[in-house]
Amino acid sequence: MKFHVLTLFPQMIMDALNTSITGRAIDKGILSVNAVDIRDYTHDKHLKVDDYPYGGGAGMVMQPGPVVECYENIVTKGTKPRVVYMTPQGETFSQAKAKELAQEEELVILCGHYEGIDERALEEIVTDYISIGDYVLTGGELAAMVVIDSVSRLVPGVLNNDVSAETESFSDGLLEYPQYTRPVEFRGKKVPEVLLSGHHAKIDEWRHEKSLERTKRFRPDLYEAYLKDHPEERKN
Ligand code: ADE
Repeated sequence: MKFHVLTLFPQMIMDALNTSITGRAIDKGILSVNAVDIRDYTHDKHLKVDDYPYGGGAGMVMQPGPVVECYENIVTKGTKPRVVYMTPQGETFSQAKAKELAQEEELVILCGHYEGIDERALEEIVTDYISIGDYVLTGGELAAMVVIDSVSRLVPGVLNNDVSAETESFSDGLLEYPQYTRPVEFRGKKVPEVLLSGHHAKIDEWRHEKSLERTKRFRPDLYEAYLKDHPEERKN
């Protein structure tokens, strides 16, 4: 899968994604990340890419020209890849959205800065508006990395075992159960007996109980949604 990231800080993207699991997938040729500097597309002699907002107000707005020209330069003629704009004004990102985006061969991710990007550039090129949560970052780069990381790990071959992407949190609407590894006792705390039993049905049952407990405690919204779909599991 190929990601193009349109940004004023390409180094930030490349440094982060060349590490760890995404870095290995890039080396293996399963992923490619092409971070492009929007500033390379300004015609201003001082390399300016932003200006004051019409109508007044604080901050600066990124001008449409460099953004659209940057996009036109990286996209192969005749193709129309999806263009995701990272913005707190978008739809909230989710595992379902990550799965949807992982079906694409090529994805363009647009990162804004300052007070955002001139609306006309967005109307011209953007297909998806995504927020990673109800808080405001200084720019779209960290959000883009969140999206790229979560989409990448769903691309076949990126993770060593494809099963773990299926059994984890959210795939069944519940948070994941707790995990344990060696040693069997740590500072007086023992690994739950059932996990040492080798009894797979009992282990699955225990894990499901723990998933329910956790989801009820930390994500009552997900818990209620789960019980609506599985009314037989409601206990009271
Ligand atoms: N840019 C600034 N804040 C953001 C957020 N919460 N999600 C996506 N992009 C952003």
